[in-house]
Amino acid sequence: MKIMNVEFVISAVRPDQYPVDALPEFALAGRSNVGKSSLINKMIMRKGLARTSSQPGKTQQLNYYRVNDEVYLVDFPGYGYAKVSKVQRAQFGTMIETFLSDREPLKMVFLIIDIRHEPSVDDCLMYDWLKHYEIPVCVVTTKADKIPKSKWDKHVKMVKKKLGFQTGDYHVLFSSETGLGRDELWAIINQTIAE
Ligand code: GTP
Ligand code: MG
Repeated sequence: MKIMNVEFVISAVRPDQYPVDALPEFALAGRSNVGKSSLINKMIMRKGLARTSSQPGKTQQLNYYRVNDEVYLVDFPGYGYAKVSKVQRAQFGTMIETFLSDREPLKMVFLIIDIRHEPSVDDCLMYDWLKHYEIPVCVVTTKADKIPKSKWDKHVKMVKKKLGFQTGDYHVLFSSETGLGRDELWAIINQTIAE
């Protein structure tokens, strides 16, 4: 996809702040610090538009980015960050569950997993949630540049096995560092919105 324009639209904390123009939405879920915001920046070729940080827990709201007036990429807050309070954790759970259960324009969730590590309990819960709400899933194993190519296959198999990856789910190997997987992910988005 040729990126003509990208606009940061809103940091939403409540459903009444979500956009109302009904453009298809693709949301990114994953652990804190896994590389969600970096993936968005790579997808839209804007280095600093989505705030990234080596400090986990930066993204606290649903951040909406509109691309080419065609789709929204929605950056979720990361989960599993130990320093987040119990109250914040509960708020996060409620916000995400409301979103997943009742967001008509949501077309797919990209579940972002660090290729180096076995998916966490929270990753597995998120995957099960997506399945429960019958939301199409694309598992994105990211930070591929952090391990040798020769190990990619083994790690991807490990990730899929732990999640219980089902036929019909998408999988993309990604690196925000090298751009690996970027075109493939755009192809999935374009195919999904054309359906
Ligand atoms: P939260 O907003 O806290 O949930 O984090 P996030 O998932 O948005 O992670 P973010 O994109 O901020 O990236 C976290 C750190 O990982 C940063 O230091 C990034 O530079 C680094 N990073 C992200 N993706 C990659 C990747 O593909 N390769 C490498 N080598 N580093 C990456
Ligand atoms: Mg982020």
